[in-house]
Amino acid sequence: MDVATTIAECRRLRAELPAPVGFVPTMGYLHEGHLSLVREARARAASVVASIFVNPSQFAPSEDLAAYPRDLDRDLELLEAEGVDLVFHPTVGEMYPEGFDTWVAVEELTKRLEGESRPTHFRGVATVVAKLFQIVSPQIAVFGQKDAQQALVIRRLIEDLAFDVELVVAPTVREADGLAMSSRNTYLSADERRAATILRRSVVLAEERYAEGERSAAAIRLAMQKLIASEPLVEPLYVSIADVGTLEELESIEGKGLVSLAARVGKARLIDNTVLPPGEGLT
Ligand code: PAJ
Repeated sequence: MDVATTIAECRRLRAELPAPVGFVPTMGYLHEGHLSLVREARARAASVVASIFVNPSQFAPSEDLAAYPRDLDRDLELLEAEGVDLVFHPTVGEMYPEGFDTWVAVEELTKRLEGESRPTHFRGVATVVAKLFQIVSPQIAVFGQKDAQQALVIRRLIEDLAFDVELVVAPTVREADGLAMSSRNTYLSADERRAATILRRSVVLAEERYAEGERSAAAIRLAMQKLIASEPLVEPLYVSIADVGTLEELESIEGKGLVSLAARVGKARLIDNTVLPPGEGLT
């Protein structure tokens, strides 16, 4: 496995890889969720490139950039064991050199949900992913459904700027008790860790109500909010049932709906989601 830290080196090593190239961008501190994306890329592509870059521009000043967990040696071991061909691990200066002044903004899709409380987040994500696509030139890119709005933003980015990349959205990988795996779960105390399972439980509650025939988005949102309110360590930020195309809130779930929520649990901001009807993919 090669590791490139500069754009020039990454381009040179990438040019030697057999196509199609599958790409998995990450911020490191890898867990089974990330590795499942690598396996998905491996299964679909002849070569796999992963990136590890904690992207400063997607963190607001008040957010956890400095505290974001990092363990490069362990990450490289894990990626090597998964048969990754090339890892791109640039410095902040390599990605954002002096004078950097070009941003990619997906406008409407980023006004809701995560974007409402994190107004500059997706500009950072779209910019770094566009730049990574330029450097890695993948034919396939794999993202996780765990960050559903991010995957939809990337779909829009690929379509609008005509990136010649096939987007694959892979299912959320969970801990045994249902909590979606996240690098940010390391911020949780033992009590908060137990309380955090309410996110998954409220998403499952939505699936159950839907299976019973409930189609009123307001009724399902209310049921989820009540369940979350029963857990004092969890402060809900939003509970949404939205159109998967526009992310506008639905009144009634007739077609596909994205059920998603965010909550603060101690120092961590956690998210989870499901797509209705069950079994439907996000994209
Ligand atoms: P990061 O949070 O490291 O996640 C990298 C990829 O792993 C994303 O596509 C994310 O959706 C996926 N992922 C995270 N947890 C997952 C889980 N439990 N199951 C399945 N997939 C999971 O998302 C980012 O980094 C950044 O925003 C990035 C796209 C790298 C741009 O900086």
